[in-house]
Amino acid sequence: MKRAKITIVGAGNVGGSTAQRLVAGAVGDVVLIDIDEGLARGKALDLAEAAPLYHSDCRVTGGGDYAATAQSDVVVITSGSPRKPGMSRDDLLKINTGIVRQVTEQVARHSPQAVLIVVSNPLDAMTYVAHRVSNFPPERVMGMAGVLDAARFKAFLAEALSVSVDHIETLVLGGHGDTMVPLTRSTTVGGVPVEALLPEARLDAIVQRVRDGGAEIVNLLKTGSAYFAPSASVVEMVRAVVRDEHALLPCAAYCRGEYGAQNLFVGVPAVLGSRGVERIVSMELTARERAAFQKSVDAVQELCRLIDRLL
Ligand code: NAI
Ligand code: 2OP
Repeated sequence: MKRAKITIVGAGNVGGSTAQRLVAGAVGDVVLIDIDEGLARGKALDLAEAAPLYHSDCRVTGGGDYAATAQSDVVVITSGSPRKPGMSRDDLLKINTGIVRQVTEQVARHSPQAVLIVVSNPLDAMTYVAHRVSNFPPERVMGMAGVLDAARFKAFLAEALSVSVDHIETLVLGGHGDTMVPLTRSTTVGGVPVEALLPEARLDAIVQRVRDGGAEIVNLLKTGSAYFAPSASVVEMVRAVVRDEHALLPCAAYCRGEYGAQNLFVGVPAVLGSRGVERIVSMELTARERAAFQKSVDAVQELCRLIDRLL
């Protein structure tokens, strides 16, 4: 069987860890691209030398030339600049819009049939940039956030309840930011609603910790943001696409009215397969959930309006 070809743009912490997981799990051949060509080449070579120890025949190459990415099945975009002291959110939006725009132009030229998975922040807005610039059908463009946010929710609940992470099911909707909506109503432990297992105040504190999950790690690391859980989350999505798994995962997908979101990318449950987003799964929200989701949609929409002025 032909191995899938997966390009990762941005060979930094998330990109490098994603490459490692893809090779170790024999998900596909990997091409690492970075503006810092030596970084991409160095990490690719290191990984190629690790492959025999993973018993993996996946090939890994790296560099700065997009010609090597031609005809990729999946392209993961992790290139971006971190927010530096004194930089406003708008400044960061401008810089990362420029980076994602330039990267997407190259990717779309060399792999016109690829599925794009965006990781760069601000996530939902950068997914919008990748879609506008690539002009790909929206089904072939998605953003990674919900899988990560749900994993954080599961980790904190498993700790609080002293149960295995394997028996927790949960869902996080909305944009990847302060306004995300961890759905406690859809959260169960071995089929038992979590609301029956934890007092409301404890559950509220866990939900808040999920919302602040990215910042909690930034504050500890000081020089960067999380990458173990983010790369594991990306790999879940890549695997769903290259293995045509029809996996139901929360991701930033293009909504055409689902959950009241109109023509924008925001976190919703979606079935992922070889064509990208096969469908968005809708369900009724309570009035409180709907209001929280709408607040999140408004925040994403505001960023997209700023981007429209930049592109
Ligand atoms: P990093 O700084 O380690 O890596 C970013 C890489 O992008 C660097 O190697 C840099 O040289 C490269 N790069 C910058 N401009 C480029 C260009 N024009 N072309 C090619 N490569 C370019 O950062 P890290 O930790 O890997 O994070 C990457 C992005 O992912 C950030 O925007 C971060 O905020 C975001 N992120 C998003 C998450 C999510 O849940 N969606 C989770 C974790 C990180
Ligand atoms: C995270 O949630 C920084 O978005 C990144 O860890």
